[in-house]
Amino acid sequence: MNSLSEAAAAAGKSVGLTSDTITFTGGRPLNGRIVVRGAKNFVTKAMVAALLGDSPSTLRDVPDISDVRVVSGLLGAHGVMIERDVDGGVIRLDPTNVKSAHMAEINAHAGSSRIPILFCGPLLHQLGEAFIPDLGGCRIGDRPIDFHLSALRSFGAVVDKLPEGIHLTAPEGLRGAKIQLDYPSVGTTEQVLLTAVRAQGLTELSNAAIEPEIMDLINVLQKMGAVISVDADRVIRVEGVERLSGYDHRSIFDRNEAASWAAAALATGGEIFVEGARQAEMLTFLNVFRKAGGIFEVFDDGIRFAHPGTPLKPVVIETDVHPGFMTDWQQPLVVALTQATGVSIVHETVYEQRFGFTDALVKMGATIELHRECLGGQKCRFGQRNFVHSAVISGPTKMHGANIEVPDLRGGFSHLIAALMAEGESTVTNVGIIARGYENFLGKLRMLGAEFTVEG
Ligand code: EPZ
Repeated sequence: MNSLSEAAAAAGKSVGLTSDTITFTGGRPLNGRIVVRGAKNFVTKAMVAALLGDSPSTLRDVPDISDVRVVSGLLGAHGVMIERDVDGGVIRLDPTNVKSAHMAEINAHAGSSRIPILFCGPLLHQLGEAFIPDLGGCRIGDRPIDFHLSALRSFGAVVDKLPEGIHLTAPEGLRGAKIQLDYPSVGTTEQVLLTAVRAQGLTELSNAAIEPEIMDLINVLQKMGAVISVDADRVIRVEGVERLSGYDHRSIFDRNEAASWAAAALATGGEIFVEGARQAEMLTFLNVFRKAGGIFEVFDDGIRFAHPGTPLKPVVIETDVHPGFMTDWQQPLVVALTQATGVSIVHETVYEQRFGFTDALVKMGATIELHRECLGGQKCRFGQRNFVHSAVISGPTKMHGANIEVPDLRGGFSHLIAALMAEGESTVTNVGIIARGYENFLGKLRMLGAEFTVEG
C-alpha cells in the first residue's frame, strides 16, 4: 500500500484529507452528480504500453489515483520522461531514453500494485532484461502469477526467481507462441498482448479475457502499429511487428467506479448522475441493478441511478469474466442488498477470498452468511477447494454505525457506503487504500451531501 500522504492526496484533494481515519454520520441519501474519468484497470496498462513505442504517447482522461502514481514512478525509474496535467487528466510519456532502473528504485515500488508484472514483455523488448519487484494489490485471494510466467516462457523468456523479485532475460529474443490459458485471466491476456506485439512471428492466445479494458488496450496497441485480431471464441491473434510508435488515446471510462456510485445511490436511498458512464460496458450490471429494483436512465453524457422509493428486491448473482457480472461490482452491491426484502445470493467465481469485507457489514447489523459451497449457479473451480466463496444476504436489516477498517479497494468503498447508509456514526480506518482506484472520492461524497469529518 502507498503511503498515507500520497493516497490521501488523491482521495481528498478538495476536502483536505490529512488522516487515514474518517467518521461518517449515516442515514441520509446521497444525491447529486459526479464525474467518472478513465478506468484504473485500463489507464495503468496503457501507460505500460507506452514503453513499447519509439516516440512519445499521450493518454487522456487519466484519473488522479495512487495506482497511476505507482506506475508513473516505475516508468520514471526506467527513464521514461513524464509530463502530467493532473486536473486536465492528460499524461505524456516519452520512452525514447528507456534504461535499466536501479534495483533500489524498483524496490521502492514493491508491494504497491499488481501492474509491475506487465512491465516484463516491454522491458524485454526494449532492454533485453527486466526486474520485477514483489507484487502488491488487494488481498482478495492468493493472486498467483503462474499464468504470466508460463506465457512469458512460451515467448522464450528465461525467468529467475530471486528473494527480492523476478529477473527475466531473453537470450534468443522473444518469438510468437501458441498459448492456451487455463482461465481467461485479465492480467495474463494483457501480458501476452504487450509481449506479442513486438515478438517475432505469430502469437495465438486461446481462452483470452475480453474485458472492455482489454479491448481498449488493443485499440491503443493498434494505434501504435500492432496487428491484432479478436475472434468471437476468445481467441486473440497477434502478428508481431518490428517497431511501434507512440499513441494518442482517450481512456475508456471506469465502469467499476460507475457501478460503485450506482450501488451507493441504491443503498442510501438516493439518486446519483454518473457523468461519463456508458451503457454498453455496463449492460450486465444494469440488468442486475434493475432486477434489484433500482432505476436507471441512460443519457449521452452519463447514466442516472436511483432508488425506486419502494422496497428493494433480492437477486441471485454469479460473478464471472466478461461479459458476466464483474467481481468488482459485487462488494458495493452487497451493501444495497442488505436492504432488499428477502434472500440474495452472491456466488464469487473469480477470486477465492472476496467476502472478507462482509464482516464489517455484519458488525453493523447485516445478516450475511458465508458458505464454501457453490450456491445459486454453476459449480466453479473453488467449490471443491474449501474456499468460502458464496454469500447469502437476508434483508432488510437495520444498519447501525460501527468502527470498521477498510480491507481492500472495492471492499473499502462498500464500507464507505455502509457507513453512509447506517444510522449514527461510523469511524472508518485505513481509507487511504480507496485512493488507489477512486479519484477524489471524498470530494465526490461531499458533493453528494455526505456528512463526515476527517480525523486529525
Ligand atoms: C484484474 O486483476 C483487475 N486488476 C482486478 O481488479 C479485477 O478484479 C480482475 O482483473 C478481474 O476482472 C487490474 O486490472 C489491475 P485475473 P488480475 O488475472 O488481472 C487467477 C480491482 O479492484 N490467476 O483475471 O490480477 C487469479 O488468482 C482489481 O480493481 C491465476 O491463477 O485478475 C484469479 O482467481 C481487484 N494465475 C483469476 O485468475 C495467474 O497467473 C482472475 O485473475 C493469474 C491469475
